Amino acid sequence: MPKRAERIATVPPYLFAEIDKKKREVIARGVDVISLGIGDPDLPTPQFVIDAMHRAIEKPAHHQYPDYDGSFAFRQAACDFYQRRFGHSFDPKTEALALIGSKEGLAHIIWAYIDAGDIALVPDPAYPVYKTHTLLAGGTPYMVPLTAENSFLPDLKAIPEDVARKAKLLFLNYPNNPTGAVATLEFYQEAVAFCRKYDILLVSDNAYSEMTYDGYVAPSIFDVDGAKEVAVEFWSLSKPFNMTGWRIAFVVGNADAIGALGIIKTNTDSGQFTAVQEAAIAALTDPAADSFIAEMNATYLRRRDLAVAGLRAIGLKAEPMKGSFYLWVPVPAGHTSASFATLLLEEAGVVVTPGGAYGPHGEGYVRIALCLKEERLQEALERIKQHVKV
Ligand code: MLT
Repeated sequence: MPKRAERIATVPPYLFAEIDKKKREVIARGVDVISLGIGDPDLPTPQFVIDAMHRAIEKPAHHQYPDYDGSFAFRQAACDFYQRRFGHSFDPKTEALALIGSKEGLAHIIWAYIDAGDIALVPDPAYPVYKTHTLLAGGTPYMVPLTAENSFLPDLKAIPEDVARKAKLLFLNYPNNPTGAVATLEFYQEAVAFCRKYDILLVSDNAYSEMTYDGYVAPSIFDVDGAKEVAVEFWSLSKPFNMTGWRIAFVVGNADAIGALGIIKTNTDSGQFTAVQEAAIAALTDPAADSFIAEMNATYLRRRDLAVAGLRAIGLKAEPMKGSFYLWVPVPAGHTSASFATLLLEEAGVVVTPGGAYGPHGEGYVRIALCLKEERLQEALERIKQHVKV
């Protein structure tokens, strides 16, 4: 085999691929493993989406190449959804693109902007794709700490002037993965002003906007006047509609940035299966969608409260999140995030995600995803209690 490209050595294997491997090893030893690891909704996709897929798959026109940018009907449905949900309008022709999941779009927007030596401002901790694709593109991720003291929001004022001047991208993701933190409109105003000042594209990953609790409603970056001049926002059907396996998302925002992403995409993929886009249109437009999401959030709320009470009873400092379906839990004294995650897997047969895998400031935490039924969650908590003395 020829020598691999140097860039491969700059990134680790994908976090959840590694966790899957370890999980399989423990399962192979006969352990009944309970996963609080990946954020992959356990409940089914709504029936109205599945029915739309059945109808769409029968149409021969859908068996041919899809439209590169996504079908016009899908882009229109995405823009209509943004208008209805957030009150912001976008032109489906120039300000929206279909994606094969947000992960694909987030990776590719980096290739549209980052040349060797360019800086991307990446939150720490964060969804790994922002950093790894910056590295793969030859860029330099400048890690911006998210700390409990600052409510897991980046302190943009602490970014050195020379770094800000060289930066081309700023990633934000609220409700946040992995911390479950949420952003205020004031913070978004500051972030947009920062990006205008330094000529930075603000990449808002709004994958968890619909998963909120306690009356909190998540904003869009476009709630800030003028944001469209500097921002794009990614929105995924994966989490709110239990559609992780379908691979469908979209991006809206600045037309120039959407155009640049389109050039990378048309040279890389040939679009998402049109039948999947038809099913996604049903998710975005069906009158039953709102009640489906409300029902899911009620389910996650019950799981959240059960998990927080159970973890606190063990002596762990769990705080209920307002958004996403992740709890960000400090590990007990004497542990690193990796040693605690290993203890839980090896001794209790429970998978959690070590916080250090999301960046150095994730060290000292583990992430718990609430993607399992309450009985299993209860069992996981009991097993953790047996093996963890705080
Ligand atoms: C997560 O669990 O953080 C992600 O949603 C999984 C992924 O996108 O790889």
